[in-house]
Amino acid sequence: MNKQDNNLMEKIVSLCKRRGFVFPSSEIYGGFAAVYDYGTYGVELANNIKDVWWKAMVQGNENIVGIDSSIFMHPKVWEASGHVGGFSDPLSECRKCHTRSRVDHILEEAGIFADEKMSEEKINKLLVDNKKKIKCPKCGKSDFAPAKSFNLLVKSNLGNFTGDWDKSPVYLRGETCQGIYINFKNVLDSSRVRVPFGIAQIGKAFRNEITARQFIFRKREFEQMEMQMFVRPDEEMKMYEEWKKRRWQYYIDLGIKEKNLKWHEHENLVFYAKAAWDIEYNFPFGFQELEGIHARGDYDLTQHTKCSGEDLSYRDPITNEKYIPHVVETSAGVDRTFLAVITEAYMEEKVDKEIRVVMKFPKNLAPIKVAVFPLLKNKPDLVKKAREVYDNLKGEFMCEFDDNGNIGKRYRRQDEIGTPFCLTIDFDSLDNGDVTVRDRDTMKQDRIKIEGLKDYLKEKLEK
Ligand code: GAP
Repeated sequence: MNKQDNNLMEKIVSLCKRRGFVFPSSEIYGGFAAVYDYGTYGVELANNIKDVWWKAMVQGNENIVGIDSSIFMHPKVWEASGHVGGFSDPLSECRKCHTRSRVDHILEEAGIFADEKMSEEKINKLLVDNKKKIKCPKCGKSDFAPAKSFNLLVKSNLGNFTGDWDKSPVYLRGETCQGIYINFKNVLDSSRVRVPFGIAQIGKAFRNEITARQFIFRKREFEQMEMQMFVRPDEEMKMYEEWKKRRWQYYIDLGIKEKNLKWHEHENLVFYAKAAWDIEYNFPFGFQELEGIHARGDYDLTQHTKCSGEDLSYRDPITNEKYIPHVVETSAGVDRTFLAVITEAYMEEKVDKEIRVVMKFPKNLAPIKVAVFPLLKNKPDLVKKAREVYDNLKGEFMCEFDDNGNIGKRYRRQDEIGTPFCLTIDFDSLDNGDVTVRDRDTMKQDRIKIEGLKDYLKEKLEK
């Protein structure tokens, strides 16, 4: 799809709603900013994305194991990690309409380089120096109050029955990797891993993002796929370079065109990082972060050792050397990968003077692999045969039975949800025991014997 299409984002948002990929949360109550729900096909796509990542990390690497830690953790975790003190974005309020904006974003929109990790002093200087150039996104005025650091952690009252919960809040996790660090010793003691080894986790994270925009790109409740590789201190940067290469290749293997990927190095590093590069994707609104790859040194394990009193060092079983392992982190977002995959797949093609919208998902990511249609819904023999075919395939592939409307309409619907193969059972099927298989991408049709369908589809779907 042409990324210069100014309406591409609108088209994607509309298709996601119309075809059950993504719904705004609490829509019947007017929506809830920066929170979204995945619909029937969205949940399948998101699960397939998570499955590919898990296979690339845990199944494909002998020395990477998985965990699933809780969203709630002891409040001290977030003090130790530095999030209570330093996990913030610069916020400024428009003096005219009181809209709050992220200062680095409004500066960047005016063409001024800024970054959320800049000091308060530096970003305020930019705000003052460029006073006339930057405008409030709501009222268009240029009158901003000085920027303040706004902490992104989301508080809850879990386990607090006094009503005074602001004083001792329990946080919803702001990143999943803290659940990995606090389980470092448990994993080491209970599995057979030895340094260098990784722990992977997929799960929800929560942030009080100041501005809600760009659809599912910036959510307040989102999902991360994070892997922390624990390495010898002198191996950290070598391992870091290796993971940078591997993560780039991962996106190519996922079906993302290389021209739509770009590296971005962070000059102003976040409080824990020694090196930080992002892989950016060319979203409809431009290149933006898809995944962060960070060299975190011994920061996290040292902090948790200090604050918990538990020794999180590692003793090498061969050399007997004792050290705090350093961490190489790969941190990807499910939602941003979802948006990248959707953007990449969205195609408009001219067919018989009409525009066909088709989601050309890689077959392994497609929410539905096979759709089964009886040619006519009022012919019981056709419906019975089509049901038999559907029942026979559904244990093997994610299938959908559809007898609604004419075949052309059913093809259009399946194209829009990206189903690679549509099978039609017609009158010849009853006599010859075969069906028409229509290919999503070429729209070519083949006649295939019902008894050989499973093998045929398996082979085609693995390609
Ligand atoms: N543990 C490191 C960490 O959390 P990050 O750069 O803040 O680093 C990593 O986040 C990834 O999580 C991002 O590259 C992005 O894919 C995803 N992510 C972060 N904030 C997000 C948000 N508000 N909405 C959706 N995804 C987000």
